[in-house]
Amino acid sequence: MEIQKKKMIDYEALDAYSEQMTTPPDAVLHHIYRQTNLTQIYPRMISGRIQGKFLEMICQMLQPKRALEIGTFTAYSTICIARGLPPNGKLIAIEANEEFEEIIIKNLKKAGVSSKVDLRIADAKQLIPTLESGFDLVFIDADKISYPLYFELVIEKVNSGGFILADNVLWGGKILQQQKIDRETQAILDFNQRVADDTRVEQVLLPIRDGLMLIRKK
Ligand SMILES: C[S@@+](CC[C@H](N)C(=O)[O-])C[C@H]1O[C@@H](n2cnc3c(N)ncnc32)[C@H](O)[C@@H]1O
Repeated sequence: MEIQKKKMIDYEALDAYSEQMTTPPDAVLHHIYRQTNLTQIYPRMISGRIQGKFLEMICQMLQPKRALEIGTFTAYSTICIARGLPPNGKLIAIEANEEFEEIIIKNLKKAGVSSKVDLRIADAKQLIPTLESGFDLVFIDADKISYPLYFELVIEKVNSGGFILADNVLWGGKILQQQKIDRETQAILDFNQRVADDTRVEQVLLPIRDGLMLIRKK
């Protein structure tokens, strides 16, 4: 019997190389990253070097006047988005956990972007329906269970030609599992399929870090 040999790629090594070749974060972001890793129970939630620079550059390219972030944590991605906004650009950042409020405010101040960010400590599911429409960019990075709902809530609020970015859409590779699919993985699968089936949008799944879905509203 012929044994099929699969070429094994070391994705961790590729990630490490990609990170090395990406512009490093400045002292403020480096400090936030270190502090988050030293003090938080789930530090892996933070965006980090590659995704942070990607978010900043996407904003520099798109020049969104109104942006929305769902899931702020310690404000790493918030700062990256805010830094990429045009001079008159504003970002509404939603974080449900009030324990992060103080640290977010402190970090935004350190990065010099407080005036660009409107922080809302609230459950995004309740807050989004109350927000005015007209977003040019939305970054979805909160609880995975609610991803399909977040898509439905924000799609009506995004301008035609505007973009939605959703993090963790590869979910550590769990989206390829055939059995024992947990609730979060199922929600990510549902989200990805819903986006793929939705004729209002076109999208590209970027295998950056844990997977980023870049969605454009037609
Ligand atoms: C993956 S972390 C965000 C990481 C951050 N965007 C970054 O890149 O550094 C997810 C955050 O979403 C928040 N969150 C979870 N459910 C939420 C909800 N319903 N509304 C708003 N924020 C929520 C969590 O408290 C957590 O801080």
